[in-house]
Amino acid sequence: MKISSRITKALNDQIAMEAFASNYYLSMASWCEITGYEGAANFFYQHGDEERQHMLKVVHYLNGIGVQAVIPQVKQPPKTFNSLESICKTALGNEQAVTRSINKIVELAQKEKDHSTFVFLQWFVNEQIEEEKLFETILQKFVLIGRDKLAINEIDKALSSMATPSTE
Ligand code: FEO
Repeated sequence: MKISSRITKALNDQIAMEAFASNYYLSMASWCEITGYEGAANFFYQHGDEERQHMLKVVHYLNGIGVQAVIPQVKQPPKTFNSLESICKTALGNEQAVTRSINKIVELAQKEKDHSTFVFLQWFVNEQIEEEKLFETILQKFVLIGRDKLAINEIDKALSSMATPSTE
């Protein structure tokens, strides 16, 4: 099966974006761990693993149709963060950027009548709805529970219980 060079490039760029997202969450997890946010560290380590699975989905899709995927060099994400809340805001912003990127490839696939890529991307469209909702829910907790030490401790615990092993 053939896909266009534009779609191939867009999917390879998506691999790079998911790899960077994975590294970014890893850096967030590491900062949380060293700062004493055990639950959040747990959550972000697991989320980094999920992003790696997203990356692999695209790698396997391309390889499966006979187009060798490009494994990218990954940029270094920020090392330090201001607060748990700022991490979650950054995470939401990053997820919104991923959603825009996925939507662009969906539109390109529609334009080129590339049904295979269009169907493949439906999983990502749904996943991005979940991802944005997840971080919106977490950010709401800062509004509802608060930002003092006890509140942050509660949110840290809540994040730990949200860290479910990835099934994808
Ligand atoms: Fe794979 Fe959270 O975007």
